[in-house]
Amino acid sequence: MPKITYIEDNGKLQAIEVSNGLSVMEGALQNNIPGIDADCGGSCACATCHVYVDEKWFNKLKIKEDSEEDMLDMAYKPTKFSRLSCQITVEDELNGLVVKMPLKQA
Ligand code: FES
Repeated sequence: MPKITYIEDNGKLQAIEVSNGLSVMEGALQNNIPGIDADCGGSCACATCHVYVDEKWFNKLKIKEDSEEDMLDMAYKPTKFSRLSCQITVEDELNGLVVKMPLKQA
């Protein structure tokens, strides 16, 4: 199973094995990782699953859909490394992915 590292805003780091096919958001929720709210349940309609993807990994992710880009405008302090974690599907190629949660969600 791919291992995903989640880093809270306070620097606390947890590396969790997440099943292929789940989203990075679902991996966080199932493992009680704080910092991801996911109010809409993963339908790209809330921006409360915002994460900053580690620079080394950002370009390895699939390209954002327009809907994700639009929702990211509503996120708390988005940067060029921002993604919605519900839109990142875990797969073997993402083993080692590192994401950091913002100070707060939108
Ligand atoms: S959970 Fe709502 S946009 Fe990701």
